[in-house]
Amino acid sequence: MGRVHVVTGGGSGIGRAVAEALPREDTVVITGRTLAKLERTAGTLNERGHHIVAATCDVSSREEVRALAEKAAGLGSVATVVHAAGISGSMGTPERIVRINALGTVYVNQEFFKAMNGGVIVDVASNSGYMLPRAMIPRRSYPLALSDEDAFVRRLVRRASVMHNKAVDPQMAYMISKNFARWYSAGCALKYMRQRGIRVFSVSPGYVETPMTEKEKGKATDILLSYTGPKRGARPEELAHLIVSLADERCGYLMGTDVLCDGGSIAAGYKLTVATSEKRRPPEGGRW
Ligand SMILES: NC(=O)c1ccc[n+]([C@@H]2O[C@H](COP(=O)([O-])OP(=O)(O)OC[C@H]3O[C@@H](n4cnc5c(N)ncnc54)[C@H](OP(=O)(O)O)[C@@H]3O)[C@@H](O)[C@H]2O)c1
Repeated sequence: MGRVHVVTGGGSGIGRAVAEALPREDTVVITGRTLAKLERTAGTLNERGHHIVAATCDVSSREEVRALAEKAAGLGSVATVVHAAGISGSMGTPERIVRINALGTVYVNQEFFKAMNGGVIVDVASNSGYMLPRAMIPRRSYPLALSDEDAFVRRLVRRASVMHNKAVDPQMAYMISKNFARWYSAGCALKYMRQRGIRVFSVSPGYVETPMTEKEKGKATDILLSYTGPKRGARPEELAHLIVSLADERCGYLMGTDVLCDGGSIAAGYKLTVATSEKRRPPEGGRW
């Protein structure tokens, strides 16, 4: 049996671009919740010579992720998992955001750990995980994800609600969920490599032009983009090229870390305070 790659959230945006950038001769399983979207993407890419298999899976359900991992392993040797499924601050309640983005990452890593021998898992986090002041990060609650999921969700949602500004609360939940994803991904690296030869790392994109950001366009986005070096969002293909390159076995020493690809906006000082303040303006030149 040949090599299999799995891309969660592969029906659109970054995940779709990753599926397109993976080797055409291999099987690529793309997943998400919406079958019609997955079939559309698979149909388009298969017409271009890819071998894409569409399979629904809600990553906030451990059972569905387990079934996905078993299905993928049944198709061949699972070489790559790119976990790009996620929802933004405007796409769900804080609880839903935490369940999908944070617990979903736990389920994907844990279930594919059992299904893989060698290979690589790339968790897609976000530069928004870098935007929180240290005091806002509920780091001490993170281990609860492995022992008491409901308490974990409650604690993260409570922290996200500290700022009772409607525009910010779900966004806070998103930032915290992505900060967690980066933390959790790094924490998997040693065990996964030692026990199964699996490389794990995360990639944190900045603003990428996808269906997700189409829904988010506005003033805060304009400020964020003004903090990037190129003064534009990334194209999904740019992220896909980065992810597929780093997943290549020639990058075999890269693990347990996060690769921030955000046009330099965090380096230029873009933080939560900037995102929520109407008065603050980007620094003249910043640190560029
Ligand atoms: N675009 C950006 O600026 C940006 C920046 C930083 C990080 N990210 C992260 O990059 C990843 C990809 O986002 P994108 O920008 O490519 O957005 P996107 O086009 O909306 O892709 C996200 C995909 O995830 C799927 N998805 C959502 N919830 C799911 C669930 N519970 N189970 C399985 N699949 C689910 C969606 O399909 P269904 O709705 O059909 O399930 C969708 O196809 C996300 O994790 C996002 O947080 C994006």
